[in-house]
Amino acid sequence: MSLTEIERLQALLPVWVESSRQLCADGKTASYIPELAKSPLGALGIHIMDAKGHSISAGDAELSFTMQSISKVFSLILALMDNGETIVFDKVGMEPTGDNFNSMLKLELVQPSIPFNPLINAGAIAISSLIAGENPSEKSNRLLEFLRLISNNSKLSYDHDVYRSESDSANLNRSMAYFLKDKGVLNGSVEDVLDVYFRHCSVSVNCADIAQMALVLAYNGKNPLTGEQLIPRRYVQIAKTFMITCGMYNASGEFAIQVGLPAKSGVSGGILSLVPGRYGIGVVGPSLNRKGNSIAGVSLLEILSREFDWSLF
Ligand code: DON
Repeated sequence: MSLTEIERLQALLPVWVESSRQLCADGKTASYIPELAKSPLGALGIHIMDAKGHSISAGDAELSFTMQSISKVFSLILALMDNGETIVFDKVGMEPTGDNFNSMLKLELVQPSIPFNPLINAGAIAISSLIAGENPSEKSNRLLEFLRLISNNSKLSYDHDVYRSESDSANLNRSMAYFLKDKGVLNGSVEDVLDVYFRHCSVSVNCADIAQMALVLAYNGKNPLTGEQLIPRRYVQIAKTFMITCGMYNASGEFAIQVGLPAKSGVSGGILSLVPGRYGIGVVGPSLNRKGNSIAGVSLLEILSREFDWSLF
């Protein structure tokens, strides 16, 4: 970070957080996972980290939230590290859907019946079945350890209330998973696969954890603070491309035009974004717009991208 950019961020980030926070009243917390409905509607926080470990945060950056769909980026990467590209792309496609993240609409429209991409729910459930391990708990533990490594936080763990709440109410994801099992997309027991999926969605983080994970992606798989290559560059390239084309679901095109950075959102209101070769960014704002993305978080990223000319395009 150049000093002037740090100074501008330090001075203006709290101002931009407060102006974007006004939008929270126009959205809603996710309620289809009952526990998420309790999230604070008016919260908004951000943490930005650079390669030298400089960090700037503003608003409710300390708030704990669950990774939800942000975890799909890392389950995809671990599945690629465990299996390679050929096996993974035999089970999921590479194209955006233009539909909601939990839509089943297109599953029956293609032959073979594989999910369009690994970031929609159906695709991420298929990916969960590709994580290596003898049983669901070994698979989940490997994924949790991987998230701890990438976030440089050995204390990351599950929010058990959110996990149970999702597992108890996941009729739609369950029906998708049984459909995928019927079509030969899922390996093993459907309930075991779903358990791995619900667990990684319920990993509890704050904005600094997400910014640290994003920083590793911003440096093509290397932790810039230690120089250690944690993820092969090719798999980061695949993950970042999906983040551009599908990371904000059926708002990915609009986000690419307004912000122009790789990003992945979750229904808890989290957003992971990054400026390649420069910054990792973690945002939380549980009030969601109609497409399931943080209403104030998207606004804040739009302001930042515009003010600092961060768009890749
Ligand atoms: O499966 C679900 O519906 C949630 N565990 C994750 C969905 C999600 O985060 C979509 N985000 N916008």
